[in-house]
Amino acid sequence: MDTSNLIDKLNIALGWELRAANMYAHYAANIRGIHRLQLSPMFTTEATESNEHADLVRKAVVKLGGIPVTERNPHPIIHTTDYVEMLQLSLETETKAASVYGDIIAVIEGQGDQELYDAIEQIYLAELRSLEELRLLM
Ligand SMILES: [Fe+2]
Ligand SMILES: [Fe+2]
Repeated sequence: MDTSNLIDKLNIALGWELRAANMYAHYAANIRGIHRLQLSPMFTTEATESNEHADLVRKAVVKLGGIPVTERNPHPIIHTTDYVEMLQLSLETETKAASVYGDIIAVIEGQGDQELYDAIEQIYLAELRSLEELRLLM
């Protein structure tokens, strides 16, 4: 397996996590109406989880000898105060995250680095859980 290709893929995931942390913190602060009571804490939890994922991926990049990206993925973070729109945009983000990690899993499968595989698999499963939760919320 080409290490620089793997580092590139991990850096793509890191960029999306940095964006997700930013987006969820923005929605936690901006949500209006009665749904704020439940969704603001949920968005805060997602922001925290995204930062934790970013940290794991960042350390994996360093361990492989790469330089972790410091900028978030440039995909726009749409400002809204409407919870339905926030949930739709969250679903879009989680769908992207699941596909990015699915891509990495396919690359590192059977490659021998069990620690990296386990870490990425845990993140991948967390993205799938978030995706399913958002589907049920809508
Ligand atoms: Fe994540
Ligand atoms: Fe996520």
